[in-house]
Amino acid sequence: MDARDVWKSYGKNVANQGVSFNIDEGEFVAFLGPNGGGKTTLMRQIYGELYPDRGEIRIMGERPQKALRFMGVVPQEGRPLDSLTAEEHVTLLGMLKRFSRQEARAKARELLELMGIDPKARVDNLSGGNKRKVLIISAIISDPKILVLDEPTVGLDPEARREVWNYLVEMKKEGKTIILTTHYLEEAETLSDRVYFLNKKILLEGKVSEIKQKFSEYYVVTNVDSGEKYYVKREELMEFLGKANFRFEVKLSSLEEIFMRLFQ
Ligand SMILES: Nc1ncnc2c1ncn2[C@@H]1O[C@H](COP(=O)(O)OP(=O)(O)OP(=O)(O)O)[C@@H](O)[C@H]1O
Ligand SMILES: [Mg+2]
Repeated sequence: MDARDVWKSYGKNVANQGVSFNIDEGEFVAFLGPNGGGKTTLMRQIYGELYPDRGEIRIMGERPQKALRFMGVVPQEGRPLDSLTAEEHVTLLGMLKRFSRQEARAKARELLELMGIDPKARVDNLSGGNKRKVLIISAIISDPKILVLDEPTVGLDPEARREVWNYLVEMKKEGKTIILTTHYLEEAETLSDRVYFLNKKILLEGKVSEIKQKFSEYYVVTNVDSGEKYYVKREELMEFLGKANFRFEVKLSSLEEIFMRLFQ
């Protein structure tokens, strides 16, 4: 999948400013960035709901609108249809994309039970997190080659989030291409081969390990009383600590701290 110089504005508000990327088949890539950084705008262009103002996106050689048949999507603001049962919802999505009713229903039950959801429960009676799970399952039931997940685990409890992670790891092993946005940097760090930091433009791109290495010349010094953080270069660390008149903790940058440094 390639994006070349994608621009997208809402009126005068530029959301994507010359975004280019290249994602290989079977890669797991996360887009990270602050609220309003243009991630959802970019995702919506990837799954063909919006057209770029300039530039283009090609997916397996095709325009996004055509490539949609290879994709499973969880939109950021997506909500499942309230009046169905979980099983009906997932079955319907499976039938829309590829399966017969019987196949879709069997697969729907299997996935729902795997994720701990009663297939007969009505969607409007499910908790917020379980509604989110129904959406995720509805996106993956058709066994798509490409998954586009815009903050899929928002609102999930830690255990449910890990169930989703485990499932995504399995999907990656099967060779699927997965594109994720998340504000949980641990999620990005655990799952993705590569990350893009996006704030209108792409600010930084690379493997998590490479990015951490690049930033490893910085230490994070935390004032343990006030919680204030300082980013200090290795060669300046001793002098900084010598002058510090507070109790401190020193750590190497995590992905989260790199994020804070880039965007604050
Ligand atoms: N439908 C819309 N109409 C007008 N402006 C919009 C619309 N959708 C997004 N925007 C604006 O475009 C910019 C990018 O928003 P976008 O939703 O793509 O960011 P995001 O990175 O997904 O943010 P978040 O992390 O909060 O989900 C923001 O300034 C936002 O206000
Ligand atoms: Mg968003």
